[in-house]
Amino acid sequence: MYRSHSCGELKASHINTEVTLAGWVQKSRNKGFMVWVDLRDRYGITQLIFDEERTPKEMMEKAKSLGREFVIQVSGTVIERESKNSKMATGAIEVLVSKLEILNEAVTPPFTIEDETDGGEDIRMKYRYLDIRRNPVKDSLIFRHKVAMEVRKYLSDQEFIEVETPYLIKSTPEGARDFVVPSRMNEGQFYALPQSPQTFKQLLMVGGMDKYFQIVKCFRDEDLRADRQPEFTQIDCEMAFVQQEDILNIFEGLTRHLLKEVNGVEVDKFPRMLFDDAMRLYGNDKPDIRFGMEFGELNEVTQHKDFGVFNAAELVIGIAVPGGNKYTRKEIDNLIKWVKRPQVGALGMIYARVNEDGSFKSSVDKFYDQEDLAKWAEVTGAKPGDLVCVLSGDTNKVRAQMSALRMELAERLGLRDPKVFAPLWVIDFPLLELDEETGHYHAMHHPFTSPKPGQLELLDTDPGAVKANAYDLVLNGNEIGGGSIRIHDKKIQATMLKHLGFSEEEAKAQFGFLMDAFEYGAPPHGGLAFGLDRLVAILGGQETIRDFIAFPKNNSGRDVMIDAPAFIDDEQLTELSLKLNIQEKE
Ligand code: AMO
Repeated sequence: MYRSHSCGELKASHINTEVTLAGWVQKSRNKGFMVWVDLRDRYGITQLIFDEERTPKEMMEKAKSLGREFVIQVSGTVIERESKNSKMATGAIEVLVSKLEILNEAVTPPFTIEDETDGGEDIRMKYRYLDIRRNPVKDSLIFRHKVAMEVRKYLSDQEFIEVETPYLIKSTPEGARDFVVPSRMNEGQFYALPQSPQTFKQLLMVGGMDKYFQIVKCFRDEDLRADRQPEFTQIDCEMAFVQQEDILNIFEGLTRHLLKEVNGVEVDKFPRMLFDDAMRLYGNDKPDIRFGMEFGELNEVTQHKDFGVFNAAELVIGIAVPGGNKYTRKEIDNLIKWVKRPQVGALGMIYARVNEDGSFKSSVDKFYDQEDLAKWAEVTGAKPGDLVCVLSGDTNKVRAQMSALRMELAERLGLRDPKVFAPLWVIDFPLLELDEETGHYHAMHHPFTSPKPGQLELLDTDPGAVKANAYDLVLNGNEIGGGSIRIHDKKIQATMLKHLGFSEEEAKAQFGFLMDAFEYGAPPHGGLAFGLDRLVAILGGQETIRDFIAFPKNNSGRDVMIDAPAFIDDEQLTELSLKLNIQEKE
Protein backbone atom coordinates (compact mmCIF):
# COMPACT_ATOMS: atom_id res chain seq x y z
CA MET A 1 0.00 0.00 0.00
CA TYR A 2 1.54 3.30 -1.07
CA ARG A 3 -0.66 5.50 1.07
CA SER A 4 -3.42 5.26 3.63
CA HIS A 5 -4.57 8.85 3.21
CA SER A 6 -4.18 11.73 0.79
CA CYS A 7 -2.25 14.88 1.67
CA GLY A 8 -5.46 16.89 1.87
CA GLU A 9 -7.59 15.05 4.39
CA LEU A 10 -5.91 14.73 7.80
CA LYS A 11 -7.45 16.83 10.55
CA ALA A 12 -7.67 17.00 14.34
CA SER A 13 -9.85 13.88 14.50
CA HIS A 14 -6.93 11.87 13.05
CA ILE A 15 -4.57 12.73 15.91
CA ASN A 16 -2.68 9.63 17.14
CA THR A 17 -3.53 7.73 13.94
CA GLU A 18 -0.73 5.92 12.11
CA VAL A 19 -0.72 7.00 8.47
CA THR A 20 1.23 6.50 5.27
CA LEU A 21 1.40 9.32 2.75
CA ALA A 22 3.08 9.74 -0.62
CA GLY A 23 3.65 12.84 -2.72
CA TRP A 24 6.02 15.59 -3.76
CA VAL A 25 8.18 17.79 -1.57
CA GLN A 26 6.70 21.27 -1.94
CA LYS A 27 9.34 22.80 0.32
CA SER A 28 11.35 21.99 3.39
CA ARG A 29 12.69 24.07 6.26
CA ASN A 30 15.82 22.85 7.97
CA LYS A 31 16.46 24.30 11.42
CA GLY A 32 19.23 21.80 12.19
CA PHE A 33 17.54 20.13 15.12
CA MET A 34 14.23 20.09 13.30
CA VAL A 35 13.10 19.64 9.69
CA TRP A 36 9.64 20.46 8.37
CA VAL A 37 8.57 19.26 4.97
CA ASP A 38 5.42 20.27 3.09
CA LEU A 39 4.24 17.15 1.29
CA ARG A 40 1.94 17.78 -1.67
CA ASP A 41 -0.37 15.69 -3.79
CA ARG A 42 -3.45 16.53 -5.89
CA TYR A 43 -5.58 16.81 -2.77
CA GLY A 44 -3.53 19.19 -0.68
CA ILE A 45 -0.50 19.68 1.51
CA THR A 46 0.39 18.00 4.78
CA GLN A 47 3.20 19.16 7.03
CA LEU A 48 5.74 16.49 8.03
CA ILE A 49 8.02 16.89 10.98
CA PHE A 50 11.37 15.29 11.81
CA ASP A 51 13.16 16.26 15.02
CA GLU A 52 16.42 15.29 16.68
CA GLU A 53 14.75 13.99 19.81
CA ARG A 54 12.35 11.62 18.16
CA THR A 55 13.85 10.93 14.71
CA PRO A 56 16.79 8.52 14.30
CA LYS A 57 19.95 10.29 13.13
CA GLU A 58 20.12 8.54 9.77
CA MET A 59 16.58 9.50 8.85
CA MET A 60 17.23 13.04 10.05
CA GLU A 61 20.10 13.28 7.54
CA LYS A 62 17.89 11.84 4.81
CA ALA A 63 15.19 14.39 5.60
CA LYS A 64 17.72 17.19 5.32
CA SER A 65 18.75 15.95 1.88
CA LEU A 66 15.24 16.20 0.40
CA GLY A 67 15.05 18.63 -2.51
CA ARG A 68 12.05 20.34 -4.07
CA GLU A 69 9.81 17.97 -6.03
CA PHE A 70 11.42 14.79 -4.68
CA VAL A 71 8.82 12.02 -4.63
CA ILE A 72 8.67 10.45 -1.19
CA GLN A 73 6.67 8.04 0.89
CA VAL A 74 6.38 8.49 4.65
CA SER A 75 4.75 6.67 7.54
CA GLY A 76 4.21 8.25 10.89
CA THR A 77 1.83 9.44 13.58
CA VAL A 78 -0.59 12.33 13.23
CA ILE A 79 0.11 14.81 16.02
CA GLU A 80 -1.35 18.15 17.00
CA ARG A 81 0.45 21.12 15.55
CA GLU A 82 1.84 23.68 17.93
CA SER A 83 1.16 26.67 15.72
CA LYS A 84 -2.00 25.91 13.82
CA ASN A 85 -2.69 27.26 10.34
CA SER A 86 -6.41 27.91 9.93
CA LYS A 87 -5.96 28.72 6.23
CA MET A 88 -4.89 25.14 5.47
CA ALA A 89 -7.33 22.21 5.43
CA THR A 90 -4.70 20.14 7.26
CA GLY A 91 -3.45 23.09 9.33
CA ALA A 92 -4.41 21.59 12.71
CA ILE A 93 -2.03 18.63 12.47
CA GLU A 94 1.36 17.46 11.33
CA VAL A 95 2.82 14.00 10.81
CA LEU A 96 5.75 12.92 12.98
CA VAL A 97 7.63 10.71 10.55
CA SER A 98 8.89 7.27 11.56
CA LYS A 99 9.71 5.96 8.10
CA LEU A 100 10.93 7.89 5.07
CA GLU A 101 11.51 6.49 1.64
CA ILE A 102 12.70 8.47 -1.35
CA LEU A 103 10.75 7.05 -4.29
CA ASN A 104 12.38 9.31 -6.85
CA GLU A 105 14.71 12.25 -6.80
CA ALA A 106 14.05 15.40 -8.84
CA VAL A 107 16.27 17.99 -10.44
CA THR A 108 15.41 21.57 -9.53
CA PRO A 109 12.31 22.57 -11.54
CA PRO A 110 12.75 25.46 -14.00
CA PHE A 111 10.07 27.49 -12.20
CA THR A 112 8.49 27.44 -8.77
CA ILE A 113 5.53 25.12 -8.30
CA GLU A 114 3.46 27.75 -6.53
CA ASP A 115 0.12 29.42 -7.30
CA GLU A 116 2.04 32.58 -8.22
CA THR A 117 4.95 31.16 -10.15
CA ASP A 118 8.09 32.88 -11.43
CA GLY A 119 7.84 30.96 -14.73
CA GLY A 120 6.81 32.74 -17.93
CA GLU A 121 4.27 31.29 -20.37
CA ASP A 122 6.85 29.68 -22.70
CA ILE A 123 8.75 27.81 -20.03
CA ARG A 124 5.56 26.65 -18.36
CA MET A 125 4.31 25.26 -21.68
CA LYS A 126 7.57 23.42 -22.30
CA TYR A 127 7.29 21.79 -18.88
CA ARG A 128 3.53 21.59 -18.84
CA TYR A 129 3.59 18.49 -16.61
CA LEU A 130 5.18 20.66 -13.90
CA ASP A 131 2.71 23.45 -14.57
CA ILE A 132 -0.10 20.95 -14.02
CA ARG A 133 1.22 20.40 -10.48
CA ARG A 134 0.33 24.02 -9.73
CA ASN A 135 -3.10 24.66 -8.23
CA PRO A 136 -4.43 27.10 -10.85
CA VAL A 137 -3.82 24.66 -13.72
CA LYS A 138 -4.77 21.56 -11.76
CA ASP A 139 -7.98 23.21 -10.54
CA SER A 140 -8.89 24.28 -14.09
CA LEU A 141 -8.57 20.69 -15.30
CA ILE A 142 -10.66 19.42 -12.42
CA PHE A 143 -13.21 22.14 -13.17
CA ARG A 144 -13.33 21.03 -16.80
CA HIS A 145 -13.92 17.45 -15.71
CA LYS A 146 -16.80 18.57 -13.52
CA VAL A 147 -18.44 20.48 -16.39
CA ALA A 148 -18.02 17.50 -18.74
CA MET A 149 -19.55 15.15 -16.15
CA GLU A 150 -22.56 17.44 -15.68
CA VAL A 151 -23.00 17.64 -19.45
CA ARG A 152 -23.01 13.85 -19.75
CA LYS A 153 -25.38 13.52 -16.82
CA TYR A 154 -27.85 16.08 -18.12
CA LEU A 155 -27.90 14.83 -21.70
CA SER A 156 -28.10 11.16 -20.71
CA ASP A 157 -31.06 12.01 -18.49
CA GLN A 158 -32.69 13.58 -21.53
CA GLU A 159 -32.14 10.31 -23.44
CA PHE A 160 -29.26 11.50 -25.60
CA ILE A 161 -26.86 8.73 -26.64
CA GLU A 162 -23.13 9.41 -26.90
CA VAL A 163 -21.86 7.98 -30.19
CA GLU A 164 -18.29 8.21 -31.44
CA THR A 165 -17.68 9.25 -35.03
CA PRO A 166 -14.46 8.78 -37.00
CA TYR A 167 -11.51 11.16 -37.10
CA LEU A 168 -10.13 9.99 -40.43
CA ILE A 169 -12.74 11.38 -42.78
CA LYS A 170 -13.36 13.55 -45.78
CA SER A 171 -13.55 17.32 -45.47
CA THR A 172 -16.50 18.73 -43.51
CA PRO A 173 -16.46 22.43 -44.28
CA GLU A 174 -16.93 24.68 -41.25
CA GLY A 175 -15.11 27.65 -42.70
CA ALA A 176 -11.51 26.75 -41.79
CA ARG A 177 -8.77 24.83 -43.57
CA ASP A 178 -8.52 21.08 -43.03
CA PHE A 179 -5.69 19.23 -41.37
CA VAL A 180 -4.98 16.31 -43.66
CA VAL A 181 -3.49 12.86 -43.11
CA PRO A 182 -1.84 10.96 -45.96
CA SER A 183 -3.03 7.41 -46.54
CA ARG A 184 -0.22 4.88 -46.94
CA MET A 185 -2.50 2.25 -48.41
CA ASN A 186 -4.14 4.59 -50.90
CA GLU A 187 -1.31 6.26 -52.71
CA GLY A 188 -1.63 10.01 -53.16
CA GLN A 189 -4.89 10.14 -51.19
CA PHE A 190 -5.58 11.96 -47.95
CA TYR A 191 -8.02 11.85 -45.10
CA ALA A 192 -9.15 15.13 -43.58
CA LEU A 193 -9.50 15.43 -39.82
CA PRO A 194 -13.03 16.59 -38.94
CA GLN A 195 -13.61 20.31 -38.43
CA SER A 196 -16.70 18.93 -36.72
CA PRO A 197 -18.69 15.67 -36.91
CA GLN A 198 -21.43 17.59 -38.77
CA THR A 199 -22.21 15.15 -41.59
CA PHE A 200 -21.88 12.09 -39.35
CA LYS A 201 -24.35 13.38 -36.82
CA GLN A 202 -26.80 14.06 -39.61
CA LEU A 203 -26.29 10.50 -40.85
CA LEU A 204 -26.96 9.27 -37.31
CA MET A 205 -30.33 11.01 -37.53
CA VAL A 206 -31.00 9.23 -40.83
CA GLY A 207 -29.93 6.12 -38.90
CA GLY A 208 -32.72 6.75 -36.40
CA MET A 209 -30.57 7.56 -33.33
CA ASP A 210 -32.99 10.41 -32.60
CA LYS A 211 -30.91 12.18 -29.94
CA TYR A 212 -27.13 12.13 -30.23
CA PHE A 213 -24.32 13.84 -28.42
CA GLN A 214 -20.58 13.48 -28.30
CA ILE A 215 -17.81 15.24 -26.42
CA VAL A 216 -15.44 15.26 -29.34
CA LYS A 217 -12.19 16.68 -30.66
CA CYS A 218 -12.43 18.91 -33.73
CA PHE A 219 -9.54 20.12 -35.85
CA ARG A 220 -9.33 23.44 -37.68
CA ASP A 221 -6.33 24.92 -39.38
CA GLU A 222 -7.07 28.58 -38.73
CA ASP A 223 -5.41 31.61 -37.18
CA LEU A 224 -5.20 31.21 -33.43
CA ARG A 225 -6.49 33.56 -30.78
CA ALA A 226 -7.11 33.43 -27.06
CA ASP A 227 -10.40 31.62 -27.69
CA ARG A 228 -9.22 29.37 -30.51
CA GLN A 229 -7.06 26.27 -30.64
CA PRO A 230 -6.29 24.15 -33.72
CA GLU A 231 -7.69 21.14 -31.90
CA PHE A 232 -10.50 21.86 -29.52
CA THR A 233 -13.47 20.04 -28.04
CA GLN A 234 -17.13 20.31 -28.88
CA ILE A 235 -20.21 19.08 -27.08
CA ASP A 236 -21.76 18.09 -30.36
CA CYS A 237 -25.51 17.43 -30.40
CA GLU A 238 -28.21 16.53 -32.90
CA MET A 239 -31.91 15.70 -32.63
CA ALA A 240 -34.52 14.37 -35.04
CA PHE A 241 -38.14 15.55 -35.39
CA VAL A 242 -37.45 18.93 -33.86
CA GLN A 243 -37.93 22.55 -34.67
CA GLN A 244 -35.71 25.42 -33.64
CA GLU A 245 -37.82 26.03 -30.55
CA ASP A 246 -37.22 22.48 -29.24
CA ILE A 247 -33.48 22.82 -29.66
CA LEU A 248 -33.26 26.21 -27.98
CA ASN A 249 -35.25 24.87 -25.04
CA ILE A 250 -33.19 21.71 -24.51
CA PHE A 251 -29.82 23.43 -24.68
CA GLU A 252 -30.93 26.41 -22.70
CA GLY A 253 -31.83 23.76 -20.13
CA LEU A 254 -28.34 22.27 -20.33
CA THR A 255 -26.69 25.67 -19.95
CA ARG A 256 -28.92 26.57 -17.04
CA HIS A 257 -28.14 23.20 -15.41
CA LEU A 258 -24.40 23.90 -15.71
CA LEU A 259 -24.70 27.43 -14.34
CA LYS A 260 -26.60 26.05 -11.37
CA GLU A 261 -24.53 22.95 -10.64
CA VAL A 262 -21.11 24.35 -11.44
CA ASN A 263 -21.47 28.01 -10.52
CA GLY A 264 -24.44 27.99 -8.18
CA VAL A 265 -26.10 30.67 -10.30
CA GLU A 266 -29.77 30.69 -11.29
CA VAL A 267 -30.50 32.46 -14.57
CA ASP A 268 -33.87 33.54 -15.96
CA LYS A 269 -35.09 32.53 -19.38
CA PHE A 270 -32.43 33.47 -21.92
CA PRO A 271 -33.29 36.51 -24.01
CA ARG A 272 -33.41 36.03 -27.78
CA MET A 273 -32.07 38.64 -30.12
CA LEU A 274 -32.34 38.82 -33.89
CA PHE A 275 -28.98 38.85 -35.62
CA ASP A 276 -29.93 42.15 -37.27
CA ASP A 277 -30.69 43.72 -33.88
CA ALA A 278 -27.45 42.43 -32.40
CA MET A 279 -25.53 44.09 -35.21
CA ARG A 280 -27.54 47.32 -34.95
CA LEU A 281 -27.35 47.64 -31.16
CA TYR A 282 -23.94 46.10 -30.42
CA GLY A 283 -22.16 45.91 -33.79
CA ASN A 284 -21.48 42.30 -33.04
CA ASP A 285 -23.17 38.92 -33.38
CA LYS A 286 -22.01 37.92 -29.89
CA PRO A 287 -22.99 40.88 -27.74
CA ASP A 288 -21.93 41.13 -24.14
CA ILE A 289 -25.17 42.17 -22.47
CA ARG A 290 -23.85 42.31 -18.91
CA PHE A 291 -23.82 46.07 -19.40
CA GLY A 292 -25.64 48.64 -21.54
CA MET A 293 -23.91 51.12 -23.83
CA GLU A 294 -26.10 50.13 -26.75
CA PHE A 295 -25.45 51.96 -30.00
CA GLY A 296 -27.61 54.91 -30.91
CA GLU A 297 -27.87 55.60 -34.65
CA LEU A 298 -27.32 59.29 -35.13
CA ASN A 299 -27.68 59.87 -38.88
CA GLU A 300 -30.94 61.80 -38.48
CA VAL A 301 -29.61 64.08 -35.77
CA THR A 302 -26.17 64.70 -37.26
CA GLN A 303 -26.51 64.92 -41.02
CA HIS A 304 -28.47 68.20 -41.17
CA LYS A 305 -25.47 70.44 -40.52
CA ASP A 306 -22.26 71.27 -42.38
CA PHE A 307 -20.05 68.66 -40.75
CA GLY A 308 -18.69 66.91 -43.85
CA VAL A 309 -17.32 63.83 -42.07
CA PHE A 310 -20.75 62.83 -40.77
CA ASN A 311 -22.58 63.89 -43.92
CA ALA A 312 -20.38 61.61 -46.04
CA ALA A 313 -20.81 58.62 -43.74
CA GLU A 314 -23.15 55.73 -44.38
CA LEU A 315 -23.67 55.38 -40.63
CA VAL A 316 -23.06 57.63 -37.63
CA ILE A 317 -23.30 55.87 -34.27
CA GLY A 318 -22.79 56.90 -30.69
CA ILE A 319 -22.57 55.26 -27.29
CA ALA A 320 -23.01 56.80 -23.86
CA VAL A 321 -20.10 56.01 -21.56
CA PRO A 322 -21.42 56.01 -17.98
CA GLY A 323 -19.57 58.57 -15.89
CA GLY A 324 -17.33 59.33 -18.88
CA ASN A 325 -17.50 63.10 -18.42
CA LYS A 326 -14.90 62.70 -15.70
CA TYR A 327 -12.29 61.73 -18.33
CA THR A 328 -9.63 64.39 -18.74
CA ARG A 329 -8.83 65.83 -22.14
CA LYS A 330 -5.72 63.68 -22.17
CA GLU A 331 -7.67 60.53 -21.38
CA ILE A 332 -10.07 61.26 -24.21
CA ASP A 333 -7.15 61.94 -26.57
CA ASN A 334 -5.77 58.53 -25.61
CA LEU A 335 -9.12 56.96 -26.35
CA ILE A 336 -9.06 58.61 -29.78
CA LYS A 337 -5.58 57.19 -30.31
CA TRP A 338 -6.89 53.80 -29.25
CA VAL A 339 -9.67 53.77 -31.87
CA LYS A 340 -7.17 54.88 -34.52
CA ARG A 341 -4.89 51.88 -33.89
CA PRO A 342 -4.72 49.69 -37.01
CA GLN A 343 -6.40 46.82 -35.09
CA VAL A 344 -9.50 49.02 -34.67
CA GLY A 345 -9.08 51.23 -37.72
CA ALA A 346 -11.29 54.27 -37.04
CA LEU A 347 -10.24 57.54 -38.65
CA GLY A 348 -11.13 59.53 -35.56
CA MET A 349 -13.71 59.96 -32.83
CA ILE A 350 -16.07 62.79 -32.01
CA TYR A 351 -17.27 63.21 -28.47
CA ALA A 352 -19.75 65.22 -26.44
CA ARG A 353 -19.50 65.68 -22.71
CA VAL A 354 -22.78 65.77 -20.79
CA ASN A 355 -22.17 68.10 -17.87
CA GLU A 356 -23.83 67.60 -14.49
CA ASP A 357 -26.11 70.62 -15.19
CA GLY A 358 -27.32 68.98 -18.41
CA SER A 359 -25.36 71.26 -20.74
CA PHE A 360 -23.05 69.85 -23.40
CA LYS A 361 -19.52 70.43 -24.56
CA SER A 362 -18.49 68.64 -27.73
CA SER A 363 -15.45 68.42 -29.97
CA VAL A 364 -17.64 69.74 -32.80
CA ASP A 365 -19.30 72.71 -31.08
CA LYS A 366 -18.61 74.68 -34.26
CA PHE A 367 -21.23 72.59 -36.08
CA TYR A 368 -23.67 71.47 -33.43
CA ASP A 369 -25.55 73.58 -30.87
CA GLN A 370 -26.92 72.52 -27.48
CA GLU A 371 -30.24 71.47 -29.00
CA ASP A 372 -28.46 69.14 -31.48
CA LEU A 373 -26.31 67.64 -28.76
CA ALA A 374 -29.36 67.08 -26.55
CA LYS A 375 -30.68 64.83 -29.33
CA TRP A 376 -27.42 62.86 -29.40
CA ALA A 377 -27.83 62.32 -25.69
CA GLU A 378 -31.45 61.28 -26.13
CA VAL A 379 -30.65 58.75 -28.88
CA THR A 380 -27.71 57.21 -26.99
CA GLY A 381 -29.41 57.40 -23.59
CA ALA A 382 -26.66 59.59 -22.14
CA LYS A 383 -27.26 61.13 -18.71
CA PRO A 384 -25.56 64.04 -16.95
CA GLY A 385 -22.02 62.94 -16.14
CA ASP A 386 -21.72 60.71 -19.21
CA LEU A 387 -19.62 61.00 -22.33
CA VAL A 388 -21.06 60.38 -25.79
CA CYS A 389 -18.50 58.82 -28.16
CA VAL A 390 -19.35 58.99 -31.85
CA LEU A 391 -17.85 57.13 -34.82
CA SER A 392 -18.88 57.30 -38.46
CA GLY A 393 -18.18 55.52 -41.71
CA ASP A 394 -19.24 52.45 -43.69
CA THR A 395 -21.89 50.53 -41.80
CA ASN A 396 -20.02 47.26 -41.29
CA LYS A 397 -16.73 48.88 -40.45
CA VAL A 398 -18.08 51.49 -38.09
CA ARG A 399 -20.13 48.89 -36.24
CA ALA A 400 -17.07 46.70 -35.74
CA GLN A 401 -15.03 49.70 -34.56
CA MET A 402 -17.70 50.84 -32.13
CA SER A 403 -18.09 47.30 -30.84
CA ALA A 404 -14.35 47.18 -30.10
CA LEU A 405 -14.56 50.55 -28.33
CA ARG A 406 -17.59 49.48 -26.32
CA MET A 407 -15.85 46.32 -25.09
CA GLU A 408 -12.65 48.18 -24.29
CA LEU A 409 -14.49 50.85 -22.29
CA ALA A 410 -16.50 48.22 -20.44
CA GLU A 411 -13.29 46.41 -19.54
CA ARG A 412 -11.73 49.65 -18.28
CA LEU A 413 -14.89 50.53 -16.34
CA GLY A 414 -14.96 47.07 -14.70
CA LEU A 415 -18.34 46.26 -16.24
CA ARG A 416 -17.29 42.79 -17.44
CA ASP A 417 -17.65 41.01 -14.11
CA PRO A 418 -16.69 37.34 -14.64
CA LYS A 419 -19.00 36.27 -11.82
CA VAL A 420 -22.05 37.67 -13.63
CA PHE A 421 -23.51 35.46 -16.36
CA ALA A 422 -25.60 36.93 -19.16
CA PRO A 423 -26.46 34.29 -21.75
CA LEU A 424 -28.59 34.96 -24.82
CA TRP A 425 -29.60 33.37 -28.08
CA VAL A 426 -28.83 35.21 -31.26
CA ILE A 427 -31.24 33.93 -33.92
CA ASP A 428 -32.13 34.42 -37.58
CA PHE A 429 -28.61 34.59 -38.92
CA PRO A 430 -28.19 35.31 -42.61
CA LEU A 431 -27.81 32.08 -44.61
CA LEU A 432 -24.98 33.44 -46.72
CA GLU A 433 -22.12 35.81 -46.25
CA LEU A 434 -20.43 37.78 -49.00
CA ASP A 435 -16.70 37.33 -49.20
CA GLU A 436 -15.63 40.88 -50.00
CA GLU A 437 -12.35 39.71 -51.56
CA THR A 438 -13.69 37.11 -53.97
CA GLY A 439 -17.19 38.54 -54.39
CA HIS A 440 -18.61 35.03 -53.76
CA TYR A 441 -21.18 34.05 -51.20
CA HIS A 442 -20.35 31.30 -48.74
CA ALA A 443 -22.44 29.63 -46.06
CA MET A 444 -22.37 31.71 -42.90
CA HIS A 445 -22.87 28.62 -40.70
CA HIS A 446 -22.28 25.62 -42.97
CA PRO A 447 -23.80 24.34 -46.23
CA PHE A 448 -26.27 22.03 -44.45
CA THR A 449 -28.20 24.82 -42.75
CA SER A 450 -31.75 25.31 -43.96
CA PRO A 451 -33.12 28.67 -45.00
CA LYS A 452 -36.13 29.96 -43.08
CA PRO A 453 -39.40 28.75 -44.57
CA GLY A 454 -40.40 30.59 -47.74
CA GLN A 455 -36.98 32.14 -48.27
CA LEU A 456 -35.55 29.64 -50.72
CA GLU A 457 -36.84 31.62 -53.67
CA LEU A 458 -34.88 34.69 -52.57
CA LEU A 459 -31.66 32.76 -53.19
CA ASP A 460 -31.78 33.69 -56.87
CA THR A 461 -32.74 37.32 -56.50
CA ASP A 462 -31.26 38.57 -53.23
CA PRO A 463 -29.00 35.91 -51.70
CA GLY A 464 -27.61 38.21 -49.01
CA ALA A 465 -31.10 38.76 -47.59
CA VAL A 466 -31.96 35.09 -47.04
CA LYS A 467 -32.27 34.27 -43.36
CA ALA A 468 -31.33 30.87 -41.94
CA ASN A 469 -32.81 28.65 -39.27
CA ALA A 470 -29.54 29.18 -37.43
CA TYR A 471 -28.76 30.29 -33.90
CA ASP A 472 -25.80 30.95 -31.64
CA LEU A 473 -25.61 30.74 -27.88
CA VAL A 474 -23.70 33.70 -26.52
CA LEU A 475 -22.33 34.00 -22.99
CA ASN A 476 -20.68 37.17 -21.74
CA GLY A 477 -19.64 38.31 -25.21
CA ASN A 478 -18.40 34.91 -26.36
CA GLU A 479 -19.93 32.54 -28.87
CA ILE A 480 -20.10 29.34 -26.88
CA GLY A 481 -22.32 27.40 -29.24
CA GLY A 482 -23.99 27.43 -32.59
CA GLY A 483 -26.28 25.31 -34.66
CA SER A 484 -29.14 25.13 -37.09
CA ILE A 485 -32.08 23.22 -38.46
CA ARG A 486 -30.69 21.22 -41.36
CA ILE A 487 -31.74 20.66 -44.88
CA HIS A 488 -33.07 17.08 -45.12
CA ASP A 489 -34.19 17.13 -48.72
CA LYS A 490 -31.80 16.10 -51.44
CA LYS A 491 -33.09 18.61 -53.99
CA ILE A 492 -32.83 21.55 -51.61
CA GLN A 493 -29.35 20.47 -50.54
CA ALA A 494 -28.33 20.31 -54.21
CA THR A 495 -29.75 23.80 -54.84
CA MET A 496 -27.91 25.11 -51.80
CA LEU A 497 -24.60 23.66 -52.95
CA LYS A 498 -25.15 25.11 -56.42
CA HIS A 499 -25.58 28.56 -54.90
CA LEU A 500 -22.40 28.09 -52.93
CA GLY A 501 -20.52 27.62 -56.18
CA PHE A 502 -20.21 23.82 -56.26
CA SER A 503 -20.62 22.25 -59.71
CA GLU A 504 -22.88 19.21 -59.81
CA GLU A 505 -19.83 16.92 -60.00
CA GLU A 506 -18.07 18.65 -57.11
CA ALA A 507 -21.20 18.45 -54.96
CA LYS A 508 -21.57 14.75 -55.74
CA ALA A 509 -17.90 14.02 -55.08
CA GLN A 510 -17.84 15.83 -51.76
CA PHE A 511 -21.32 15.36 -50.35
CA GLY A 512 -22.88 12.62 -52.49
CA PHE A 513 -22.94 10.27 -49.49
CA LEU A 514 -25.10 12.71 -47.53
CA MET A 515 -27.45 13.52 -50.36
CA ASP A 516 -27.82 9.82 -51.16
CA ALA A 517 -28.73 9.21 -47.51
CA PHE A 518 -31.45 11.85 -47.78
CA GLU A 519 -33.16 9.59 -50.34
CA TYR A 520 -33.70 6.85 -47.77
CA GLY A 521 -36.09 8.60 -45.45
CA ALA A 522 -34.21 11.39 -43.68
CA PRO A 523 -36.18 12.82 -40.75
CA PRO A 524 -36.34 16.57 -40.18
CA HIS A 525 -33.44 17.28 -37.83
CA GLY A 526 -31.27 19.93 -36.30
CA GLY A 527 -28.78 20.49 -33.56
CA LEU A 528 -25.93 22.51 -32.28
CA ALA A 529 -22.43 22.28 -30.89
CA PHE A 530 -20.99 23.98 -27.85
CA GLY A 531 -17.32 24.83 -27.72
CA LEU A 532 -16.46 22.97 -24.51
CA ASP A 533 -13.14 24.76 -23.97
CA ARG A 534 -14.82 28.15 -24.26
CA LEU A 535 -17.77 27.17 -22.14
CA VAL A 536 -15.50 25.86 -19.39
CA ALA A 537 -13.26 28.93 -19.51
CA ILE A 538 -16.18 31.34 -19.20
CA LEU A 539 -17.89 29.37 -16.43
CA GLY A 540 -14.47 29.45 -14.78
CA GLY A 541 -14.46 33.25 -15.08
CA GLN A 542 -11.85 33.50 -17.84
CA GLU A 543 -11.65 33.95 -21.60
CA THR A 544 -8.36 32.24 -22.46
CA ILE A 545 -9.13 28.61 -23.26
CA ARG A 546 -5.48 27.50 -23.09
CA ASP A 547 -5.62 27.46 -19.30
CA PHE A 548 -8.38 24.86 -19.39
CA ILE A 549 -6.64 22.49 -21.81
CA ALA A 550 -4.11 20.04 -20.39
CA PHE A 551 -1.69 20.21 -23.31
CA PRO A 552 -2.52 23.23 -25.48
CA LYS A 553 -0.74 24.51 -28.58
CA ASN A 554 0.92 27.90 -28.69
CA ASN A 555 -0.03 30.73 -31.04
CA SER A 556 1.94 29.23 -33.90
CA GLY A 557 0.08 25.95 -33.49
CA ARG A 558 3.09 24.25 -31.89
CA ASP A 559 3.22 21.90 -28.97
CA VAL A 560 6.49 23.15 -27.49
CA MET A 561 6.64 20.31 -24.97
CA ILE A 562 6.78 17.43 -27.43
CA ASP A 563 8.07 19.69 -30.21
CA ALA A 564 5.37 19.09 -32.79
CA PRO A 565 4.83 19.43 -35.67
CA ALA A 566 8.12 17.88 -36.74
CA PHE A 567 9.82 16.71 -39.90
CA ILE A 568 9.52 13.03 -40.70
CA ASP A 569 12.23 10.91 -42.21
CA ASP A 570 12.64 10.17 -45.89
CA GLU A 571 11.62 6.57 -45.54
CA GLN A 572 8.30 7.53 -44.02
CA LEU A 573 7.76 10.14 -46.72
CA THR A 574 8.43 7.58 -49.43
CA GLU A 575 6.09 5.11 -47.80
CA LEU A 576 3.37 7.75 -47.85
CA SER A 577 4.15 8.58 -51.51
CA LEU A 578 4.84 12.13 -50.38
CA LYS A 579 8.47 12.52 -51.21
CA LEU A 580 7.81 11.95 -54.83
CA ASN A 581 5.25 14.73 -54.94
CA ILE A 582 7.46 17.21 -53.13
CA GLN A 583 10.37 16.44 -55.40
CA GLU A 584 8.18 16.71 -58.46
CA LYS A 585 7.02 20.13 -57.31
CA GLU A 586 10.56 21.27 -56.67
P1 AMO B 1 -19.32 26.03 -35.10
O1 AMO B 1 -18.34 26.10 -36.18
O2 AMO B 1 -20.09 27.27 -34.76
O3 AMO B 1 -20.45 24.95 -35.42
O4 AMO B 1 -18.61 25.49 -33.80
C1 AMO B 1 -19.32 25.28 -32.58
C2 AMO B 1 -18.60 25.93 -31.42
O5 AMO B 1 -17.27 25.45 -31.32
C3 AMO B 1 -16.43 26.45 -30.75
N1 AMO B 1 -15.25 26.63 -31.62
C4 AMO B 1 -13.98 26.66 -31.19
N2 AMO B 1 -13.47 26.58 -29.95
C5 AMO B 1 -12.13 26.63 -29.81
N3 AMO B 1 -11.26 26.72 -30.85
C6 AMO B 1 -11.73 26.79 -32.12
N4 AMO B 1 -10.86 26.87 -33.13
C7 AMO B 1 -13.14 26.78 -32.33
N5 AMO B 1 -13.95 26.83 -33.41
C8 AMO B 1 -15.21 26.74 -32.97
C9 AMO B 1 -17.26 27.71 -30.64
C10 AMO B 1 -18.42 27.43 -31.57
O6 AMO B 1 -19.59 28.10 -31.15
N6 AMO B 1 -21.12 21.65 -36.82
C11 AMO B 1 -21.48 22.96 -36.32
C12 AMO B 1 -22.47 22.88 -35.20
C13 AMO B 1 -23.87 22.56 -35.65
O7 AMO B 1 -24.32 23.13 -36.65
O8 AMO B 1 -24.52 21.76 -34.98
C14 AMO B 1 -20.22 23.66 -35.82
O9 AMO B 1 -19.14 23.11 -35.72
O10 AMO B 1 -17.70 27.86 -29.31
